[in-house]
Amino acid sequence: MKTKLGPQRILFPLPTVLVVTGTMENANIATIAWISLLSGKPPTLGISVGTKGITGEQILRNKEFSVNIATADIMKETDFCGITSGRDTDKFEKTGFVKMPASEIKAPIIKQCPINLECKLIESKIIGTTNHFVGEILETHIDTDKIKDINNWNSIDIEAFNPLVYISGAREYREIGKKIGDAYKIGEELK
Ligand SMILES: Cc1cc2nc3c(=O)[nH]c(=O)nc-3n(C[C@H](O)[C@H](O)[C@H](O)COP(=O)(O)O)c2cc1C
Repeated sequence: MKTKLGPQRILFPLPTVLVVTGTMENANIATIAWISLLSGKPPTLGISVGTKGITGEQILRNKEFSVNIATADIMKETDFCGITSGRDTDKFEKTGFVKMPASEIKAPIIKQCPINLECKLIESKIIGTTNHFVGEILETHIDTDKIKDINNWNSIDIEAFNPLVYISGAREYREIGKKIGDAYKIGEELK
């Protein structure tokens, strides 16, 4: 048997990222789970950002933002950035997140996040109460000890990384589970 839930927004698991906007002097952080890679060439990603927060305003003004992937050990700080607004809270000061200058954009990256993507806004579209931003990824930073082979970006050490997973539909955070197969390969067994 199945039960109809009506048009809901249930999709999981989702990555949890920290989007930083503004500049080194007035940077703000928002927690975002509605994020997706969009294209390979050029490398782009899309984020959905509510029109009420300051994050959307700053992206529209500065045309850039950084995406910082959250890990399980910064769960509390990450949640804090998703339940407070930069309008009345200095989230860097409250969380202890450390700003590092990016190389291609003015918005900083977060030291405690092992992967940081510098993005330039190339498109935006409002649907209802959400602004959809397409960012071109101009640069990627990774903690050197979180990648097995620095010349192969498909060799990320996911155990060392321990990304923070968000479960929409249950409103909970989880750690990632154990590896169960090799993608683009295991299906070969059915060919
Ligand atoms: C786990 C989690 C995921 C979230 N995902 C999103 C999201 O994808 N898009 C969004 O607009 N807000 C999301 N939020 C809420 C924003 O982070 C929140 O509205 C924040 O206060 C915005 O801050 P700002 O005013 O400083 O921009 C999420 C919050 C949490 C806790």
